[in-house]
Amino acid sequence: MTSLNSVPLTLTVNGQAHALDIPVQATLLDVLRERLHLTGTKKGCDHGQCGACTVLIGEPHLSCLTLALSAQGHEIRTIEGLSNPDGELHPMQAAFIEHDAFQCGYCTPGQILSAVACVEGGHAENDAELRDFMSGNLCRCAAYPQIFKAVKSVAGQQR
Ligand code: FES
Ligand code: FES
Repeated sequence: MTSLNSVPLTLTVNGQAHALDIPVQATLLDVLRERLHLTGTKKGCDHGQCGACTVLIGEPHLSCLTLALSAQGHEIRTIEGLSNPDGELHPMQAAFIEHDAFQCGYCTPGQILSAVACVEGGHAENDAELRDFMSGNLCRCAAYPQIFKAVKSVAGQQR
């Protein structure tokens, strides 16, 4: 039974459909973390300023500013869906490890998802373009030089 301010919805996350009943005002970030227990997506500022909550809905989206309802009918990718089912890491995950591109790791899922979209979308053709695309993802540990190297290494492989 649906309460007055809640609605049924189906979210498709990493290829799996989830039927839920949520408050109409729930953000995608809170639904991912608290209802689906996909805690790889991080809550940093909760105000659209840090990029820690980035998920892919085609392009990168800030899940703290996205109503879960508006994501219905779209394919959502989170960091949990990036590696192969057999556990093999996505090339971008492997590159972040190889280039030591994280310290505390809190920003890392959002950085990696933005980086995947950056390379897949052909936005890493030159350094300025890459930096511009990634500029919404902040890193308090300032691992930027290593992040840059990691993304560039994957972009180079795919050119
Ligand atoms: S938690 Fe969404 S931008 Fe910071
Ligand atoms: S690695 Fe700590 S915030 Fe980026």
